[in-house]
Amino acid sequence: MKNKVALVTGAGQGIGRAIALRLAKDGFAVAVADFNQETARKVADEIAHTGRKAVAVTVDVSNREQFFAAVEKARTALGGFDVIVNNAGVAPTTLIEEITPEIVDKVYGVNVKGVIWGMQAAIKAFKAEGHGGKIINASSQAGHVGNPELAVYSSSKFAVRGLTQTAARDLAHLGITVNGYCPGIVKTPMWEEIDRQVSEAAGKPLGYGTAEFAKNITLGRLSEPEDVAACVAFLAGPDSDYMTGQSLLIDGGMVF
Ligand code: NAI
Repeated sequence: MKNKVALVTGAGQGIGRAIALRLAKDGFAVAVADFNQETARKVADEIAHTGRKAVAVTVDVSNREQFFAAVEKARTALGGFDVIVNNAGVAPTTLIEEITPEIVDKVYGVNVKGVIWGMQAAIKAFKAEGHGGKIINASSQAGHVGNPELAVYSSSKFAVRGLTQTAARDLAHLGITVNGYCPGIVKTPMWEEIDRQVSEAAGKPLGYGTAEFAKNITLGRLSEPEDVAACVAFLAGPDSDYMTGQSLLIDGGMVF
């Protein structure tokens, strides 16, 4: 991947961080994009210490102008633009009766609009570079089956799969492929927070992170962020050149 440039959103922690580190290991120069300036800088420094090029970019993906500016900054700083990973996401838990306009705006703003703005900004950058590229979008196993207390989140992840399929058809003539990934239950701050919120609502610890819960997963364990990053590395590299419109499940066998 020498001389290739990738931008990963939500790369300050969790799955995004693992993707950024993995793509750097595979040879990409990486733009570490996150809402959180401090964590983005930390991950960019981590990459720079390995001898790869990296830049930290602060962005709220739900803001179209900011997203275009972030991609342009990455392109200028790293000297090209080849891959975008629209990974940033939010997942507040709510019962259906308690969904508020604010929750819908927030979740759809980041998870759905953020993917649309990211795809648009990437298309502009690919065109400016005079070549195609790869767009990779984060969906979820919750984008395949409704997850309890996560109606807004689950529906936003169904939407991402729809966007991925449609964009794949719309963008093929530009040499752009569009694929996605659907993690299962990954040990990240997001999952810890869901576990905390759902347990709090139930008035008792539900132990979603325990070995007992992992028995519900075919492979018998929760996912590490690196399990997801390996799949994204495949989607970002040349071995997936003949794939488009797919959203790969990496969930240890939860949905099939
Ligand atoms: P996380 O909450 O641990 O990390 C998300 C990162 O995104 C944070 O660094 C945060 O600052 C950043 N972020 C949030 N809002 C942002 C915004 N508006 N603009 C820019 N950055 C923003 O989440 P995690 O677990 O790493 O998830 C990453 C992606 O994978 C998300 O799209 C999530 O929905 C998806 N996913 C996660 C699963 C899990 O079990 N952890 C399962 C299935 C999908």
